[in-house]
Amino acid sequence: MERPLSFFSYNTLKKILFKLEPETAHSVAGMALKSVVYMPPILNYFKRKNFITHPSLKQTIFNTPFLNPVGLGAGFDKNGEYINVMSMMGFGFTEIGTVTPKPQEGNPRPRLFRLIEDNSIQNAMGFNNYGNEYMLKKLIKVGNIDYPIGINIGKNKLTSEENALDDYEMLFEVFKDFGNYMVINISSPNTVGLRDLQNEKFINAVFKIGKRITNKPILLKIAPDMSPEDAIDLCKVAVEAGADGIIATNTTIDYSLTSNAKDFGGISGALLTDKSYQLFKAIGKELYNKTTLISVGGIDSPEEAYRRIKAGASLVQVYSMLVYKGTDLIREINEGLIELLKKDGYTTITEAIGADWK
Ligand SMILES: Cc1cc2nc3c(=O)[nH]c(=O)nc-3n(C[C@H](O)[C@H](O)[C@H](O)COP(=O)(O)O)c2cc1C
Repeated sequence: MERPLSFFSYNTLKKILFKLEPETAHSVAGMALKSVVYMPPILNYFKRKNFITHPSLKQTIFNTPFLNPVGLGAGFDKNGEYINVMSMMGFGFTEIGTVTPKPQEGNPRPRLFRLIEDNSIQNAMGFNNYGNEYMLKKLIKVGNIDYPIGINIGKNKLTSEENALDDYEMLFEVFKDFGNYMVINISSPNTVGLRDLQNEKFINAVFKIGKRITNKPILLKIAPDMSPEDAIDLCKVAVEAGADGIIATNTTIDYSLTSNAKDFGGISGALLTDKSYQLFKAIGKELYNKTTLISVGGIDSPEEAYRRIKAGASLVQVYSMLVYKGTDLIREINEGLIELLKKDGYTTITEAIGADWK
């Protein structure tokens, strides 16, 4: 079966995609993904090839079975258009959004850049999305799906910080019966003032509203650009306010990481790996047995995913390295995790979560 479809090898595809402007390449890849839905033999071929599960990788989180711990990070599927093809790419779960109440175009182009020498991406998208009604229709259409879905929510650019709570309230209402968890995104660097909402008052208020409206687990996604002490304090506030988990981290605005960086937008991929790990580790030490932790940021190998798990992550997410390594990466991470768990004598991933602190 490998040969007839070797045309689809990611290296071939990458050569074509990298000739295109990054956002065009994203759209082309998205169109290809959507078309596969109408070609069940191809979808099944890739699912058989890429989707890995194993007794040691299975866990139940948020009362939901996760067949493998590697999910797609938010921002790739902003409108919920690729929900049913993610297992074909090997992912054990997907996170859609960030969705805002109203549709919005995002920041002016160009706003997506490849930092090729650094195996990284820089983006200043600014929550370009079709708004809540469009995503709701997609979720209704897709119906029940056999892997978990997170819904990541954010405020519109034109909504003032004073009125930001209204946006989150509206989105909790709309999506309260959909997906398996929701994520409050106040950590994107591309909506002016959004990160200022990463404060105790707002976090208390937004979780109070969310918890009143929905029984779905609600997680907070945080930025990497704060001290470990501040991040721990913020996460503790969130957990006390009712957060069911923390996702760390979003992209970084530390432009000193490379001389190739623009002076706007957020950096992700290899340049973020260690920064994201160090912050996650600090949070993991304090919170791994108190809430569910998801680690994201430059994860590019089974070893890196395992490092996050041992630091306290129940789940990991990947986005940018997909661009550089393709979906083989997701299969490799899952296969590698099975081996790494076995080598360390663990029967299940649950035993390895937070192993650094036991
Ligand atoms: C083009 C692009 C768009 C993104 N959009 C969002 C978004 O809408 N919401 C969000 O929470 N994170 C968004 N992210 C951040 C990712 O979900 C992830 O937290 C970050 O990129 C670090 O992971 P990575 O290094 O594996 O990409 C985006 C990242 C990229 C590269």
